[in-house]
Amino acid sequence: MSDLYLDSLSLQEEMPRLAAQSRLVYLGLEEFLRSHPIPIKNEGSLLDVGSGLGILTALVSRHFPGIHVTGLDKSTDMIRFAQVSNPKMEWVNGDVASLPFSDASFDILLNSFFLIHLPQLEKSLKEMDRVLRPGGYILMIEPDQQATKVDPLIEKLIHSHGELGPGDRKALTQAESFYLGKAYEMITQQELIITTDGSDDAPELNYPNIKIGRMTAWSMISHMGQLMNLRDIYNECLESYMKKEISIQQFVVSIRLYRKKA
Ligand SMILES: C[S@@+](CC[C@H](N)C(=O)[O-])C[C@H]1O[C@@H](n2cnc3c(N)ncnc32)[C@H](O)[C@@H]1O
Repeated sequence: MSDLYLDSLSLQEEMPRLAAQSRLVYLGLEEFLRSHPIPIKNEGSLLDVGSGLGILTALVSRHFPGIHVTGLDKSTDMIRFAQVSNPKMEWVNGDVASLPFSDASFDILLNSFFLIHLPQLEKSLKEMDRVLRPGGYILMIEPDQQATKVDPLIEKLIHSHGELGPGDRKALTQAESFYLGKAYEMITQQELIITTDGSDDAPELNYPNIKIGRMTAWSMISHMGQLMNLRDIYNECLESYMKKEISIQQFVVSIRLYRKKA
C-alpha cells in the first residue's frame, strides 16, 4: 500500500505546521518534564524515533544537559533540515522497523506524533524495545483522537485523512497494551487540552490547558487540504469554518511516560 501521508510529506508543506505544532506542544511538555523529571545522568543517551524537523528533539534535549542526542527519521529531507538546524546532535536516516543501533543502547526514547503513522505498529514497538536499555524510559506524545472534539464535518475530514495513511489512529491504546503487557510500568500520563477560545497572537498556557485562536487551530489541520483526494471535503470544511458555522472545540494530546523495568 502506498503511503499517501508520507508520500505527500515535503519539507515545504510540512515545515510550518510541524514547527508550530512542536512549539505549541512543548509549552505543556516543558511543564510536564519539570514536574516529572526523568532521572538520567549526564552521560546518558536519547533517541527520538520519527524526529521530523528535530525541533521537538532539540527542545526536549534542554532537560538533559550533557546527554547524547540522536534523531532518526525515514525522510531524508527532514534529516537534512535537522542536521543544518542542530549540527551538534546526531541525525540518522532510517526506518523504525529496522533500527541501525545495537540492543539496549539508549536510556530514553522519544516519540512524538509518530506512532499513528506506522503500518506495522507492533513490529516497530518491538524494535524500539530492543534498543532501550532495562531501566530506560519512553516518552510518548501522541494526539488522542477519541478525546479530540470537532464538528462532525471536520471529524469526517480527519477520519478520511487517517484512512489514507497506513497507520492506525488507535495507536495510543495499542502502544499502551504493548508496553503494559511487557516489562514496562507507566510512570505518569497527562492530557494536554488545547482549546480554541484563545488568541491567535500567542497561545496561553494554564497547564495542562492551552488556549489558541481559531485560525491557529485551523492551521493545525490545513495540511489535509494538500491531498487531492480530500479536496472536496476540505473545501467544504474550510468554507463553513470561515463562516463560523462549524468549529474545532478541542485538540487533546496525550503525554505518557513509561519505564522499562530493570
Ligand atoms: C507528524 S511527523 C512528526 C515529527 C516530529 N516527531 C514532530 O513531533 O514534529 C511524523 C514523522 O515520522 C516519520 N516517519 C514515518 N514513518 C517512519 C518510519 N517508518 N521510520 C522512521 N520515521 C518515520 C516521518 O518522516 C515524519 O517526519
